[in-house]
Amino acid sequence: MAITGIKGMNDILPAEIAVWQYLEASARRVFGCYGFNEIRVPVVEKTELFKRSIGETTDIVEKEMYTFADRNDHSLTLRPEGTAPVMRSLIQHKLFNRDPLTKLYYMGPMFRYERPQKGRYRQFHQIGAEVVGADDPRIDAQVLVMLCQYFAEVGITDVSLQLNSLGCKECRPAYREALISYLASRTDALCEDCQRRFQTNPLRVIDCKAVGCNSATADAPAMIDHLCGHCDNHFHAVRRTLDDLEVDYEINPRMVRGLDYYTKTTFEMVTNNLGAQNAVAAGGRYDGLIQELGGPALPGIGFAMGVERLALLKGEDSQLVEKPALFIAALGEGAQRVAFILMTRLQRRGVRVEMDYAGRSLKAQIKRADKLGAAHTLIIGETELAAGAGVLRDMTSGDQEPLALSAAEDLLVQRLVCSRIALDGALTTRL
Ligand code: HAM
Repeated sequence: MAITGIKGMNDILPAEIAVWQYLEASARRVFGCYGFNEIRVPVVEKTELFKRSIGETTDIVEKEMYTFADRNDHSLTLRPEGTAPVMRSLIQHKLFNRDPLTKLYYMGPMFRYERPQKGRYRQFHQIGAEVVGADDPRIDAQVLVMLCQYFAEVGITDVSLQLNSLGCKECRPAYREALISYLASRTDALCEDCQRRFQTNPLRVIDCKAVGCNSATADAPAMIDHLCGHCDNHFHAVRRTLDDLEVDYEINPRMVRGLDYYTKTTFEMVTNNLGAQNAVAAGGRYDGLIQELGGPALPGIGFAMGVERLALLKGEDSQLVEKPALFIAALGEGAQRVAFILMTRLQRRGVRVEMDYAGRSLKAQIKRADKLGAAHTLIIGETELAAGAGVLRDMTSGDQEPLALSAAEDLLVQRLVCSRIALDGALTTRL
C-alpha cells in the first residue's frame, strides 16, 4: 500500500503554488518598504523556550505541541509559532546592538496538534513580522498600517481589523482578580476546561467557544475598563494615530489571545468567509517577553498571518500562474532535432519554452500548448524544415506568420523576452 502524508499536514501542489509565491513575494515587498529584513530560524527549538514564552497554561503548551526527546534525551519541540524563536535568536545574536529598532519578518511552517478542519491544520504556515526596541504607540499604528496595506495589496478585502488592549503587569493583576471573582460565582455554567483553568488563566474563559462559558461571561469585566493610566494613554494614542492615518478598526474588548506574552495592544484581522477559523492574522505587543527570555528589557510588537487562510481567501488566480512563452510543435525526426536545439538555446537565454517528446500529432501538440497556456506556438513540420521557415502562431488571436528558422532564436528572444518584461511590469504594478 502506498504511504500517504500525515493528517493535517498538506502538500502545496504546483497548481496552488502560484498564489503562495505571490503572497510571499507581496510580503517581502510591502514589509521591505517599512524597513523589515528577513530572518530564518530553525523549525525545532528547546521545549523550554515555548513553555516560558507562550505560557504553561495555554492550550498550545498544554495540548498542542509536537514535543519529543532527541537521542540525547533533550526535550525539543517543533515550533508552534515564530515569535519566541525569533526573540531567542535576537537575544542570542544581540541583534539589537546593530540598530536600536530591529524590524524582522519570517515565513515558514509551524506545528500545532489541533483538530484539522478547513483553515486549521497541524502543519501550517505563517508570514510574521516583529519590531523590537520601541514602545511608542506610533510603532503599534505602523505595524497595523503595514498589515492593512498587505491585505489591500493582495486583494483580500473582506476582512476587518479588531483591536483590544490587554494591559501590563501593573494593571493586569487587579483585572485578573476582578475576573476570577466574577467567574467564581458562575463556575457551574463553565465547561470542564474552564472550571479547571479559571483560577490559573481566567482570560481564556472569555475566549472559550463553549456556549455556557460564552453566556456566563457576557457581562464579564473588560480589560480596557481596568487599564492603568500608562496603558490607557498608550491605547488612546494608538487609536488616535490610526484615525489620523484613516485606518478602519473595531474595538473588541472580548478579544483574548491564546498566548500569554501579550501586553497592551492586541489585534486580529478577522473574516466571515472561513467558517469557524475567523482569524487570518493576529498579533500584539509583548513588552516583557525579551526580558523573560533572558534578554534586555526591550519592548516588542508583531503579528503573524496564516498563509493557508490567506490562500483560501485569495482563491485561484490564473494570471499568477507562470506559463510558457513558447511551445514548439515539431513533426518528424529532423524537425524534432531542430526544435530541441532551439528550445534549449531559448531556455538558456531566459525564455520559458516547452515541447513534445512523444511524437504526438500536430493537433495533439497544439492541444497541449493550449492547455499549458503557451502564448505562442512555433510549428515546424518536415515541409517547414525543408523551406527553412516555421509558422509562429499567436495562441490568443490565432494569427500565424512565417518565421525564418535561421533567425528564429534572436527574433524570439527579442519578442518573447520583451513581452515577458511587459508582463512582469504589469504583474509588479498589480503587486
Ligand atoms: P496566533 O494567533 O497563534 O499568533 O497565530 C497567528 C495566525 O496563524 C492565526 O491568525 C491564523 O491565521 C494562523 N494559524 C494559527 N494556527 C493555525 C492552524 N492550526 N492552522 C492554520 N493557521 C493557523 C501567533 O502565532 C503569534 N506568534 C503572532 C504574533 C507575532 N504575535 C506577535 N508577533
